[in-house]
Amino acid sequence: MCSLVTRFRSLILHNPISNAAGVFGTHTDELDQMFRTHSGLMVTKSATLGSRVGNKWPAYWENSQISVNSMGLPNNGIEYYVDYIRDLPEGKPCILSIANIDNEQTADILQYINELDYIKYPEINVSCPNIEGKEQLAYDYEGLEYFLTNILDKNYTKPYGLKLPPYFDPVHIDLVSDIIESHPNIVFLTCINSVGNVLHIDIDTESSVIIPKSGLGGLGGDYILPIALSNVYQFKKRLPHIDIIGCGGIRSGEDVFKHILVGATFVQIGTHLNRKGLGSIERIAEELRSIMNKKGYQTLDDFRGHYK
Ligand code: SIN
Repeated sequence: MCSLVTRFRSLILHNPISNAAGVFGTHTDELDQMFRTHSGLMVTKSATLGSRVGNKWPAYWENSQISVNSMGLPNNGIEYYVDYIRDLPEGKPCILSIANIDNEQTADILQYINELDYIKYPEINVSCPNIEGKEQLAYDYEGLEYFLTNILDKNYTKPYGLKLPPYFDPVHIDLVSDIIESHPNIVFLTCINSVGNVLHIDIDTESSVIIPKSGLGGLGGDYILPIALSNVYQFKKRLPHIDIIGCGGIRSGEDVFKHILVGATFVQIGTHLNRKGLGSIERIAEELRSIMNKKGYQTLDDFRGHYK
C-alpha cells in the first residue's frame, strides 16, 4: 500500500492536499469544516490588517469547468485568523495567508506575527488581481524587490512563502527567480493565483458574469491547469531548493499527480472545492493513491519532479 505522507519543511502532512486561500476560508466555520476534512493541511483566506468587505456582488461565478472571481479580498482582519490558528487543536497545520495591499499595513502585520511561535510559514499573497486600480505586486519587479527588502526582510525574520501570479514567459520566471534567490527567508512559492483580468460574457445579458472591475476577474478551474503546471515546473527547475506549492485547475487525483510530477511539494485546490464541496478531498486522495499503486510508486518522492 503506497503512502501519501508529505514532508513540508518541519511539518509532516498525512497527504499533500490543502484548500487554496482564494475563495474559501474567510470565516471560522469554513475553516472548522476544512479542519475536519481528510486534507493534510489548510490555509486561511488572505488577510489584511483590518477587515474588508471586498468587492460588490456578484463577484464570483462558476460553471462546471471554470470560475471567475473578483472578490477583492473580503476578510475579517489579521487578528481573527491569527487567533484562530492559536486556538486550533493539534492535528492539522494551518498556514496563515496575508494579502499585501499596502506596504505599511503589511509591515505592521509582519511585526505582529514575527513574535508568534504558532504562526509557521505564512504565505504572502503578492498576486491578487482584484483590487481596483492596483497592479499585482509580483508583476512589478522593482516594486516586488523593494517590498521584499524593505518590508519583509525588515519586519519578519523567519521563513515564509510567496503566492505568485502566473507568468507567461520564461524570461519573467528567470527575473522573478533571481529576486527570490536574493531573499533566503523565502522557502516556498505557491504557483499560481488565478489568471487575472479575464472577461467571461453571458450571451443573454450581453455583459460579464461578475460586476466589479467592469466585469474583469481572475480565472480559475480546469483551463488553468496547464498554466499552473508550467509555472510549477519552471520555478522548481530554477529554484530546486525551494518548495513549490502547486495550485490551479485541480479536480482529480490525476491532476495532483501531474503537479507533483513537475515538482510540487503539495497542492492547493480552490475552484473545485468551492463547486463540489470539501468531501471531494478524500476522493482526490484515493484517486492519487490508486494511480500510484498502478504505477508501483510507494511514496510521493518516487515520482516528485520526475517529469520526463
Ligand atoms: C480575492 O479575494 O480577490 C481573491 C484572492 C486573490 O486573488 O488573491
